[in-house]
Amino acid sequence: MLHKNLGINENNHLTICGYDTVELAKEYGTPSYVMDEDMIRENCRIYKNALEKHFGKGSMPLYASKAFSCKKIYEIAKEEGIGCDVVSGGELYTVYKSGFPMEKVYFHGNNKTDADIALGLDCKIGFFVVDNFEELEEINRQAMQRNVKQNILLRITPGIDPHTHKAVVTGSVDSKFGSAIETNQAMAIVKEALTKANIELCGLHCHIGSQIFECEPFTDAADIMIRFLKQIKDETGKELKILNLGGGMGVRYTEDDPYISYEENIGKIANKIKDYAEKHNVNLPIILMEPGRSLVAAAGLTLYTVGSVKEIPGFKNYVSIDGGMPDNPRYALYQSVYTSVVANKANSPADYTCTIAGRCCESGDLIAENTKITRPERNDILAVLVTGAYNYSMSSHYNRLPKPPVIMVSKDKKYIAVKRESYDDLMRNDL
Ligand code: LLP
Repeated sequence: MLHKNLGINENNHLTICGYDTVELAKEYGTPSYVMDEDMIRENCRIYKNALEKHFGKGSMPLYASKAFSCKKIYEIAKEEGIGCDVVSGGELYTVYKSGFPMEKVYFHGNNKTDADIALGLDCKIGFFVVDNFEELEEINRQAMQRNVKQNILLRITPGIDPHTHKAVVTGSVDSKFGSAIETNQAMAIVKEALTKANIELCGLHCHIGSQIFECEPFTDAADIMIRFLKQIKDETGKELKILNLGGGMGVRYTEDDPYISYEENIGKIANKIKDYAEKHNVNLPIILMEPGRSLVAAAGLTLYTVGSVKEIPGFKNYVSIDGGMPDNPRYALYQSVYTSVVANKANSPADYTCTIAGRCCESGDLIAENTKITRPERNDILAVLVTGAYNYSMSSHYNRLPKPPVIMVSKDKKYIAVKRESYDDLMRNDL
């Protein structure tokens, strides 16, 4: 199986964390997201222990909430002792209301509004990751009004191409995010930040992309960033203490994707970073990382009920399900490839080539094309694997479809973390 939390039981049914997915579909209905809490916790621990081991106290993972945000995930992150990154007032409000220690929350985004900044300051957020001059000015102004000195990192673009999907490359020079070293705008914003009375510049941030399996893009970025830390020290006398390397370690979506060990990769990245710090004569900074996908993607799957199986002779076979692009827009947006399994026939050969289509009134509403599954029939349960990241968080109400629930499973319990929306929920703001 694709991941170690998945299995097949004596009834030939797919299991996650030991639970029969066909029984889960019966109990909670479809479509439903199912998340393996034990796997999320294990991933948090792998990152936390590896970062602490290689970089010492203070170094830690910050969960990138954009991958999957709800109250429960912040409670898990809190219990695991990691930090969080948020990118909007909504994520910030949720993490705050979940009782998360706000000093470990970092506020991202390339266009924080005045209201976002006010909310961050009122929630006593640990750090803003400042993207641009206007934002720097506004944070300083609002911090002054409140008579506080606000910790910040500056978002820097190191100009690394991580050889991944173009739509998720966010670290190159022409990016909408941050300030580039190459154009000297990075040094200009550092110097500006150091003049602000109500701002404490604590470090730098960079994010090079997503779904990266190699270590080199991270170590190349770290090399550039550490050289820049040295340049800052030389030009301003200020030694910045924190270097945040962003998110992006890859996840296995199909059998063609490699297995990587996050623990080993962090070890390899750490060795290089230590060399670079020595070579460039700066003290080893506190290293933060912001994993999103690699903490939650493989912990999730989505359960659907099959409706029609339409065979168009000489063309293709369509398997229609009771969800689609509103609960998983990633194929429609990025042609992201998934592995699907007929959950009640999990041991039967996957020899039926088909297109998995959603139920929206739109031809582009597809979950997979040319994929191989067991030939299903109406009312079979289809599981789409590795949907724990960027599915629920990117879901919509298109065609006025209610959002599916999130069911959490762990060795000793299963429970609803987010309940299924009703038609009345859809109408709650209609006046
Ligand atoms: N930190 C920053 C500043 C980011 O921009 C991102 C992702 C992350 C951390 C987390 O990256 P991860 O570890 O999850 O790769 N919607 C797209 C992914 C967009 C990622 C954007 N930034 C998708 O579904 O593939």
